[in-house]
Amino acid sequence: MRAAVITQPGGPEVLQVQEVEEPQPGPDEILVDVKASALNRADLLQRGGRYPGPADVRADIPGLEMAGVVAAVGGRVTGLTPGDRVFALLGGGGYAQRAVIHQAMAVSIPERLDFQQAASMPEVFFTAYDALFNWCRLSMGERALIHAAGSGVGVAAIQLAREAGAVTFGTASSAEKLRRAAELGLDVGINYRDEDFADVVRQKTGGRGVDVVLDVIGAPYWDRNIASMALKGRMVLVGTMGGGQTETNVGALMPKRLSVFGTVLRMRSLGEKIVLTEQFRRHVLPLIESGKVRPVIDRVYPLEQAADAHRYMETNANFGKIVLTME
Ligand SMILES: NC(=O)c1ccc[n+]([C@@H]2O[C@H](COP(=O)([O-])OP(=O)(O)OC[C@H]3O[C@@H](n4cnc5c(N)ncnc54)[C@H](OP(=O)(O)O)[C@@H]3O)[C@@H](O)[C@H]2O)c1
Repeated sequence: MRAAVITQPGGPEVLQVQEVEEPQPGPDEILVDVKASALNRADLLQRGGRYPGPADVRADIPGLEMAGVVAAVGGRVTGLTPGDRVFALLGGGGYAQRAVIHQAMAVSIPERLDFQQAASMPEVFFTAYDALFNWCRLSMGERALIHAAGSGVGVAAIQLAREAGAVTFGTASSAEKLRRAAELGLDVGINYRDEDFADVVRQKTGGRGVDVVLDVIGAPYWDRNIASMALKGRMVLVGTMGGGQTETNVGALMPKRLSVFGTVLRMRSLGEKIVLTEQFRRHVLPLIESGKVRPVIDRVYPLEQAADAHRYMETNANFGKIVLTME
C-alpha cells in the first residue's frame, strides 16, 4: 500500500509517499480501505521527532483519524462486514491506504457525510467533547472560553458548547476567522492581536468571568486564563502551542477555588479510547446525523501532497480541518 512516511525527523520535505507493508488485522480487528485522513497539529510534532506514539503503532506514518470502507474482518469481529463505511480515531498510521482498528473503535459514517467530511471529525470532536464535558463538566447557561477558535479543536468545541446551551467566547488572529466562528455559533469573538482577551471577558461578564476555559496555547495565556475564570471555574489544557514554561503565582488558584486539568488522547489505553468512542457515538453522533453539528473543512490535499498540507498547516491560515484523500 502507499503511505506518507516520515523518512527522518525534519521539515515537511521528510514526508514522502512510499510503498509500505500493509497492516494485518488481529481477531478483534478490522482492516479498513482508507478513503481519507486528516491533519492534526500533533502530526507536525511527530514529523519533527517530538511526539512519540503508542508502542503498537508505526512511528513513521502520521495520521490520528481516518474514514473508509471495511476491507476484511478478524475472526472474533461481530456486527461489521466488508463494505461498511466507518470512521475512527487512530493511534497513528492514518496517512495510508489501509489501516487496522479494534472493532469497538469503528463508528458507522452517517449517511449525510462523505469520506472526507467523516475523516475530519474524530480527533477534534473526541478531544473537544472530552475536554468540555468529561473534564470541565460544562453545563447549560455556563460560559466557556475557547482559544484558537478557528483551529480544528476550536470549531468542534464551539459547536458542542453551543449545543449544550453554553455561552461561548473565542480567540483568533483575524476578523475573518472570527466571522466564520460566529457562523458556527460563537457568541463573543476576540481578535487577540487587537484586544486582551482577559479584558474582554471581564467587560462582557460584568467582572464575573467564564466557567470553563479550553486552552491550547499554554504559557503565554496562563495568567490571563486564571484571571478570566469565574468562582469554581475549570480549565483544561490540551495543547501548548505558545510554549509550556512560565513563572506564575500558583496561589491565584485558591481564592476562586479553581480546577486545572491537562489531558492527551493519543497515549490512552485502548479501553479508555473505546469508552470515549462510545461517548462520541451516544452524545455527538446524533448531532452530526441531524446536521446540527457539522464538519468544517478548509482544504483537501491528495496523499501525494502530504508535505504541502503540512506546510499549509504551519502557516496557521486554516479555519477548520485540512484533509488528505487517498482517492
Ligand atoms: N491533548 C490532545 O489530546 C489533543 C488532541 C487534539 C489536538 N490537541 C491540541 O490542540 C491544539 C489545536 O490543534 P489543531 O489540530 O486543532 O490545530 P490547527 O487546526 O492547526 O489550528 C491551530 C491554530 O492555533 C492558532 N495558534 C497557533 N499558534 C498559536 C500561538 N502561539 N498563539 C495563539 N494562537 C496560535 C492559529 O490560529 P490563529 O490564526 O487564530 O492564531 C492556528 O491556526 C494543538 O495544540 C494540538 O496539539 C490536543
